[in-house]
Amino acid sequence: MRIVETARELSELSYVVRQSGQKIALVPTMGALHEGHRSLIHVAQQHAEFVIVSIFVNRLQFNNEEDFETYPVTLEDDIAICRSSGVSALYMPSSSSMYPESFSTSVQVSGLTARFEGASRPGHFSGVTTVVTKLLTASAPDIAIFGQKDFQQFAVMRKLVKDLDIPVDMVMAPTIREEDGLALSSRNVRLSKESRQRAVSISQALFHSLSLFRSGIRDTQELIEATRQTCIGEIENLDYIAIVDAQTLDTVSEANLGDVLLFAGTIDGIRLIDNIIFSA
Ligand code: PAF
Repeated sequence: MRIVETARELSELSYVVRQSGQKIALVPTMGALHEGHRSLIHVAQQHAEFVIVSIFVNRLQFNNEEDFETYPVTLEDDIAICRSSGVSALYMPSSSSMYPESFSTSVQVSGLTARFEGASRPGHFSGVTTVVTKLLTASAPDIAIFGQKDFQQFAVMRKLVKDLDIPVDMVMAPTIREEDGLALSSRNVRLSKESRQRAVSISQALFHSLSLFRSGIRDTQELIEATRQTCIGEIENLDYIAIVDAQTLDTVSEANLGDVLLFAGTIDGIRLIDNIIFSA
C-alpha cells in the first residue's frame, strides 16, 4: 500500500495508474475507520482495481470547535485497516498541505445545502464540498464512494460533480448497522453505555416507519409522527424528521418508493443522524 501526503504526489500516482489501464475508486474519509468504512472499501473494490482511501479530518466542515477537537483520531489503526483491506493507496495530507495559509477558495452548492444538516450546521457543507472537490481533483478517480448514512452529503456531492462536469461516477454504499440496528458512525465511540442504548431508538423508529410504509401507509405526517413517537422519549433534542425526494431533497406529502426518511437528533450532547430509503 502506497502512502502519499501531498496532492501533487497523489496526482502523479493517479496519472500512472490510469496510464496502466486500471480504474481508480476514491473512498474519502475522516479516519477513525470502522466496519462501515471497510464496507465502503469493499464496494470500491467491486468497481475498480485501484482503491485510494483518503484520511483527513477536515476542520472546515466542523461548525463547532469542540466537535473538531474531540473528533476521534486513530491513525495507526486506520493504516492497519487499510492494509488488511487491500487498499492500494492511502492519502493522508497534513492540514497545512490541504489548506496552506494563502488558501482562500470555497466551493458552494446552493439549494440542496440550505436544509436539514445545512440549516443546523452553518458552513458544514461548504467545508465538505471544498475538501471533496480538492480530493477529486487530486485523485481524478473514475468512481467515488460515499455512505448512505450521510444521505444529504451524497445528494450534495452528486449535484456538485454534475454542475462542475467532474467526470466521476458517484456510488452510494448502504449504511452498515450494529446487530441492534444502530448505524455505524465514528461518533458512536463518544456515546456512554446508557446513551448508546438510547440511540438504538433511532433505527427502531426508522424501521417502524418502514414497516408502516410497507403495510400501505403513505401519508407523510402519519409516518413522521409514528417515527417521532417511537424515539422521542430517548432523544434530548430532536432536530428534524422529514420525508424527502431522493434527488431534490424536497419534502413530499405522500411517501413513495425511493423517498427517504431523514432523522437528526441529539443524545447526551452527541448529534446523531440516520435515514432509510422506502423500499418494498
Ligand atoms: O463523510 C465524511 O467522512 C466527510 O464528510 C468527507 C466526505 C470525508 C469529507 O471530509
